Amino acid sequence: MKMTVIGCGYLGATHAAGMAELGHEVLGMDSDIDKVHTLNSGKAPFFERDLDGLLTKHTSSGRLRFTASYGEAADFADLHFIGVGTPNQPGSDAYDLSHLFDAVRRLAPGLKTPAVVAVKSTVPVGTAPRVAEILRAYAPAGDLIEVAWNPEFLRESFAVDDTLRPDRLVLGFSTAHSWAEALLRQAFEKIIEAGTPTIVTDWATAELAKGAANSFLGTKISFINAMAEVCEASGADVAELADILGHDHRIGRHGMRPGLGFGGGCLPKDLAGFINRADELDAGEAAGMLREANAVNARRRRRVIDLACEELGPDLRGKRITVWGAAFKPETDDVRDSPALAVAQALHDLGATVTVTDPKALDNARKLHPGLDYVEDPIAAVDDADLLLHLTEWHHFTTIDPRCLATRTTSPKVIDARGTLSTAHWRDAGWSTRTLGRR
Ligand code: UDX
Repeated sequence: MKMTVIGCGYLGATHAAGMAELGHEVLGMDSDIDKVHTLNSGKAPFFERDLDGLLTKHTSSGRLRFTASYGEAADFADLHFIGVGTPNQPGSDAYDLSHLFDAVRRLAPGLKTPAVVAVKSTVPVGTAPRVAEILRAYAPAGDLIEVAWNPEFLRESFAVDDTLRPDRLVLGFSTAHSWAEALLRQAFEKIIEAGTPTIVTDWATAELAKGAANSFLGTKISFINAMAEVCEASGADVAELADILGHDHRIGRHGMRPGLGFGGGCLPKDLAGFINRADELDAGEAAGMLREANAVNARRRRRVIDLACEELGPDLRGKRITVWGAAFKPETDDVRDSPALAVAQALHDLGATVTVTDPKALDNARKLHPGLDYVEDPIAAVDDADLLLHLTEWHHFTTIDPRCLATRTTSPKVIDARGTLSTAHWRDAGWSTRTLGRR
């Protein structure tokens, strides 16, 4: 099949490469010409495991190419996926839908024959009818353009795998058994044949699916982090508690790692957007627990800052703090709403000299937080530090021998906010250690 993917960020670029891998002929479209050049050279403009391999394979095979022209995209196929970004509006929790509406408005004039526009972007419930209205108004084929809702659940650092082997497929339509459904089933044939649960539903349910899923995931993380607070107050151990809870198959250990809480470009934005939309719909009480999940999440960051002050004294001026981790999670260079950088910046604002190291995310971190110091080598980063903070759990950090680090610091003290360093090992090497939520 031929298809386009409009908007080639994390979601769109991965979807375009994934659809080519499934055997389709794909044209990716993005208005950023530099991004188009990079993608056409077989590279992603960001770090995502396995994606460069797929882009190289299919830009070479001729099944995948990228353009900056809406007209070319409209002419290329009858199926158009839309994966443009929907960030929060500046200074507000509401989604900014301007990129989405703009993309639809610019694609529409080229749609002269029946086509399906399948939206993957995350939106507040109630957006699909507005997309349909724009298409009716601007597309020559008018009513013959069908809107489908196809939310995407991919995780950064697993994006390729989540695209090719998703946990489920959600397809939302305005009417049952439309030709849009037939077309999308054909596009996802290999995924459906592999036994992927496929839920066909209405627009509103499909729109809610992504926000609800991320709200649950954020709440689950905050639940275990709330338990960490109680563990800290009572002398219990949150990692063992999480194991005990996780063995109950109704609870499950997955997505329940205690630590510094959630960040990134999705969970914080989607919780905020979900609460905002629930308020608009007069269903704000239902989102009450999400507000609490956000509050717990913010408290974890505060807790690390307080522990640093406990270790170094309330006046941080003249103190040197090393932070291991800048990315919002391991195996990505994404620093959007990174818990590690939020803590690093707060300690800098309190007067400390903060040195940050990260295997992939230093360039992005530098742009957002120019006041922090950056060092590539995590061992050299510890030189003369008064305190080491382990804030993003890259595997590489756990392989560093704490014995060779201890002598480089002024006093070997570490706060492990992610609970992945071996306490026994570090203590044997002469470090004093504190781990969030652990006894
Ligand atoms: C998330 C959703 O998982 C994905 O389904 C959706 O499509 C996009 O948003 P992502 O933002 O890539 O994906 O990251 P995820 O792996 O969910 O982690 C989000 C944040 O929560 C990270 O900061 C991570 O460190 C933190 N986290 C995750 C925890 O603190 N504990 C956990 O158990 C899991």
